[in-house]
Amino acid sequence: MSALAVEAEGLVKTFGSTRALDGIDLQIPQGTVLGLLGPNGAGKTTAVRILSTLLRPDAGRAQVAGVDVLTDPHGVRGKIGLAGQYAAVDANLTGFENLYMIGRLYGMSRRQARSRARVLITRCRLDEAAERTAKTYSGGMRRRLDLAGALVANPEVVMLDEPTTGLDPRGRLDTWEVIAELVADGADVLLTTQYLEEADHLADTIAVIDRGRVIARGTSNELKAQCHTVEVAQSAGLIWLFPLTFVSSAFVPTGNMPAVLKVAAEWNPVTAAADASRELFANTVPATFPPPGGWPGEHSVLYAVLSSVAIIAVFAPLTVVRYRRVARR
Ligand SMILES: Nc1ncnc2c1ncn2[C@@H]1O[C@H](COP(=O)(O)OP(=O)(O)O)[C@@H](O)[C@H]1O
Ligand SMILES: [Mg+2]
Repeated sequence: MSALAVEAEGLVKTFGSTRALDGIDLQIPQGTVLGLLGPNGAGKTTAVRILSTLLRPDAGRAQVAGVDVLTDPHGVRGKIGLAGQYAAVDANLTGFENLYMIGRLYGMSRRQARSRARVLITRCRLDEAAERTAKTYSGGMRRRLDLAGALVANPEVVMLDEPTTGLDPRGRLDTWEVIAELVADGADVLLTTQYLEEADHLADTIAVIDRGRVIARGTSNELKAQCHTVEVAQSAGLIWLFPLTFVSSAFVPTGNMPAVLKVAAEWNPVTAAADASRELFANTVPATFPPPGGWPGEHSVLYAVLSSVAIIAVFAPLTVVRYRRVARR
């Protein structure tokens, strides 16, 4: 139990008729980052609010840094740093003053608070903006200031709720760097995001949540492998559908086929190929070689072969392109 930075079991939270969390289990081993990945409304913020003791669950239990969120919320608050989905900075104070004030609120001496603020300003790439009021900051700078605020008290567990949503690419990259450093320093991090790319980049393990449930979990490679299997099977399925349908329709009357195959088999080039093959192999195999008056259905055989080649010529590269794109992710 003590090896887990966060451990949650069966968390449930409903708001009226909305089941925001529908029985969620989460584990974050110490020194690792869990990416909670899900679309808007999946329940990410609700989970973070429960784990940061801002909200009580209807059911389930959770421990953060070994402390129970229900029985000792105060103890949990002393061990976590939280940067919410909407940056909570005082816009009328400078970046430096914001961090200094937080340090003082945590009971640091003036000196300690000043030196901590300086360290975090640098760490969060805010040196040039340190003496400007936060209202002049870009979205990314505000987020990083908020993140710096969450780190003032040197928390054991850091919770970041959608740290890059709404940021431009530059702001996102800067924020990623700051988080990556935090991670390299060995912090335990719970990060929520709507972006697979972000979870892939920053998280050791990913839990995908949707409508209050974890629908997949694993390392990003494990999750990608699952996607590969499905997508490769899909694309491989496409390329074989046509030749297979073509071959089978040569021997089985299309009327006897299952509906899906029938649609494909009755598609013009396929039908032509089927008719030609049937003529060749089933009905009129010639007694003399070559048959007098030429091969039956000569033109349709040619047509069928050409259209099969054309079909494969289109689908084979599509399959390869698709596979490459999936494999690169
Ligand atoms: N305080 C609240 N009152 C009513 N409904 C809420 C409240 N907080 C969240 N919800 C609902 O719970 C669901 C999950 O919300 P949330 O945890 O904010 O999702 P996410 O952060 O993944 O976008 C949503 O359907 C949302 O509308
Ligand atoms: Mg949210």
